[in-house]
Amino acid sequence: MCNEPRAESREPVAESREPRAESRIMTDHITHYLATTHARHLAQLREFLSIPSISALSSHAPDVRRCAEWVVGAMRGAGLERARLIETAGNPVAYGEWMRAPGAPTVLVYGHYDVQPVDPLERWTSPPFAPTVRDGKLFARGATDDKGQLFAHLAAIEAHLRVTGRLPVNLRMVVEGEEEIGCAHVQALVRERAELLAASVVVISDTAMFARGVPSICRALRGIAYLEVEVRGAATDLHSGSFGGTVANPALALAWMLGSMKDASGRVTVPGFYDAARALGAEERAELARLPFDEARYREALGAPALVGEAGFTTLERAWTRPTLDVNGFHSGFAGEGVKTVIPSTAVAKVSMRLVPDQDPTAIGDLVERHLLEIAPPGVEVRVTGRHGGRAYEASTGHPFMRAAARAMERAFGVRPAFTREGGSNPIVSTFAEVLGAPVILFGLGLPDDNAHAPDEKIDLDQLRRGVVAVAELYGEIGGG
Ligand code: BES
Ligand code: MN
Ligand code: MN
Repeated sequence: MCNEPRAESREPVAESREPRAESRIMTDHITHYLATTHARHLAQLREFLSIPSISALSSHAPDVRRCAEWVVGAMRGAGLERARLIETAGNPVAYGEWMRAPGAPTVLVYGHYDVQPVDPLERWTSPPFAPTVRDGKLFARGATDDKGQLFAHLAAIEAHLRVTGRLPVNLRMVVEGEEEIGCAHVQALVRERAELLAASVVVISDTAMFARGVPSICRALRGIAYLEVEVRGAATDLHSGSFGGTVANPALALAWMLGSMKDASGRVTVPGFYDAARALGAEERAELARLPFDEARYREALGAPALVGEAGFTTLERAWTRPTLDVNGFHSGFAGEGVKTVIPSTAVAKVSMRLVPDQDPTAIGDLVERHLLEIAPPGVEVRVTGRHGGRAYEASTGHPFMRAAARAMERAFGVRPAFTREGGSNPIVSTFAEVLGAPVILFGLGLPDDNAHAPDEKIDLDQLRRGVVAVAELYGEIGGG
């Protein structure tokens, strides 16, 4: 249905000679157009969200491909040209463009169509791939991360093209299917096909605003180094009565190793971990301190008994500007219903380190891997696998395109946006900045309580509606208003 010709499309609006007036009229017509297309767009987004494109699980490979094809169809439906799949050694990339604005800047819009796994499934109020509207919010896996936010760009492109017959900028759209597993193949694509992706500015909507009513432009992301550590003891699970006390227990060994990697003051104990980490300047700390952050409400919203973290830093500093180490998953032995007395043969943990400028993900991965091997207690073997990562990103806020983004946010949300940071990562961001030499604008449309990566992920439909207008404005502002 996403590719059907649109009954509600209208003739291009006549051009006005006065630029500000033209831009105001354009906005009004686009807003009006979007009001008439709202129901169809919602149906389209639900279709997108119903495809279980979980990149982490190989059993979903056909869904991932189907989803990429869906995106290509949606690009065509929105009016992009040369829309097609670009194959990689991994999941395909969906590409489309509109390059008919000679002399105007070229915007590269990036997003990802892959989503996170859905477990614990029993914690979802409605099934993750049966998109459901409750209380003005659309619930589904990928609703905010990133299908809903990406969809805002498709809708804004469609609106510009239907209303004015053109875009205010040249535009390339690149939508990948491996963001949630580290962006390895699209990183290679950006390096190998830089000419295909040449752009004056990169725009990504894959972050959250600071709060409802507080629009923000995210100027920094943390980097990441990720690994899996496997601890092996005896060749098979053993009766813990017969053998307890005679061999090492991999679950205990791994728990002890991981537990020793942070001290009581919240510092990571791996030697050298902080060596390359750039400290925040006084002015940057002051900028964070000025944000309307309510620590008590933050804690309450998280349902956590207390906030804890590295001593000497505020909560926002910890979340956005300090490196850290976390266990994302731990599996060993029997954790099902009832009793089973066993010494597990293996224990596995998935571990991520969040990084700041100028930490190198490979160097940090090396440090942590070496440390894990060194601290392994007697009686177990330790193996590290599945390493990947990406560098942190930090933008200067003075760039003219950053100011254009701030104006667009202000016009759509009625409030001047704050410059914020995020603790999350997207390995492609620093690659774009490095290879294309273009600023990356993190034009987040989500909200902090959208439950990204968690049960009951959602996007607020009113927020999304304004987000589409903000994106339409952004293209206009980048194109010169
Ligand atoms: N959209 C997020 C990145 C993000 C998270 C931005 C939180 C702002 C706040 C992205 O989809 C993501 O989850 N990235 C992963 C990357 C990893 C799997 C390599 C992350 O941050 O864990
Ligand atoms: Mn994302
Ligand atoms: Mn994500």
